[in-house]
Amino acid sequence: MIGRIAERVSETRLWDRLMTMARHGATAAGGVNRQALSPEDAAAQATLIGWGAALGLAAATDAAGNLFLRLEGADRDAAPVLTGSHLDSQPSGGKFDGVYGVLAGLEAVEALIEAGVRPRRPIEIVAWMNEEGSRFAPGMMGSEAFAGLRDLGEIMRVRDLDGIAVADALTATRAALPPLPELPLGRPVAAYVEAHIEQAPLLEREAKPIGVVTGIQGKRTFRVEVTGEEAHAGTTPLVERRDAIIAATAMVQQLHRTCAASDQQVMFTVGRLVAEPNAPSVVAGKVTFSIDLRHPDQPTLERLGDAVPDICEAARGSCSVHVAELVNAPSLEFPASMRERIRRIARELAVPSLDLPSLAGHDARQLHKVAPSGMIFVPCRGGISHNEAEWAEPGHLAAGTRVLAALLAELAS
Ligand code: GLV
Ligand code: MN
Ligand code: MN
Repeated sequence: MIGRIAERVSETRLWDRLMTMARHGATAAGGVNRQALSPEDAAAQATLIGWGAALGLAAATDAAGNLFLRLEGADRDAAPVLTGSHLDSQPSGGKFDGVYGVLAGLEAVEALIEAGVRPRRPIEIVAWMNEEGSRFAPGMMGSEAFAGLRDLGEIMRVRDLDGIAVADALTATRAALPPLPELPLGRPVAAYVEAHIEQAPLLEREAKPIGVVTGIQGKRTFRVEVTGEEAHAGTTPLVERRDAIIAATAMVQQLHRTCAASDQQVMFTVGRLVAEPNAPSVVAGKVTFSIDLRHPDQPTLERLGDAVPDICEAARGSCSVHVAELVNAPSLEFPASMRERIRRIARELAVPSLDLPSLAGHDARQLHKVAPSGMIFVPCRGGISHNEAEWAEPGHLAAGTRVLAALLAELAS
């Protein structure tokens, strides 16, 4: 049975769809800029809906703008098995982050159909709204709303740097899609599986095509607002200035030193820093910067995250500072039974696998709260991701999809 399903997975069909999707938001350097709820994201969703329709999969959405394609089960009332990831990308993202999980789900379902498998439970391929959180921060909006972890009204009010609210961008996205029925948020889910590129170099280094993901490391994010006073660059003595750039950079340096002194597993990133008015001859009156802090060890993550406000306060000089915590997601472990299934299926398909944690965040973090969840990783070249040079081998992508297809058949039987 597992072999019969796996042999229906088409490496070329999967690859061709990935390359077609990569045209939505394609960048000159070979990457993808398909940020959440942009016209490019809407076009990618429309393409996915079309591919699903050709397979007889019914498309639906929900109040958070998630997109579902449903393969009906023999028992229509049974809770569905969900699989997928996200179609949105970072501004300089690659061709595989997120979109692989969605298209692996589609390919797996097509393989089940071709193999004549009629699952008892419905299987739904899902594209979660705004996983990346670069245009609208923080991300994971669709899966958080679905799992009841974040207020929908608050999500709808989040604005991008141009002042456009999620609610308005979602309305524009809906207008670019065929009319879709709306499913309730928080409906029951039997299980959730997400396939993804590893985004780190371990699988490639160990020459293992399949990663059995043990869990996801914890993450805390912050928005820091430093307020000084705008002043003339030629006439205001340094001692009299309240320079928000000087204060903010002092904070960033001290935060970095503190994290680096902790241990080698700490991930600390200030990826966005916006100065106002951002003019060469005006002392900056305000700086807003982001902190992305991650660690697999929960007590360490708590200790370092809890220290952020005090470190900023100590480095503020004559400016004032306000620290807001946006995300506090603890480290998690996926259920052993799900990991064992993935490991066993890989073994039966004679594909070498490796147990490893996910250092990146995924929508599976939220689904883990509401249903037995798991993740399948495949290698990506050099572990490079969130980068236009991101690359994965067609054979590895297909291997992950074979494991996914067999797993979905089991979970939905
Ligand atoms: C997801 O894209 C992450 O930043 O971990
Ligand atoms: Mn991703
Ligand atoms: Mn990503």
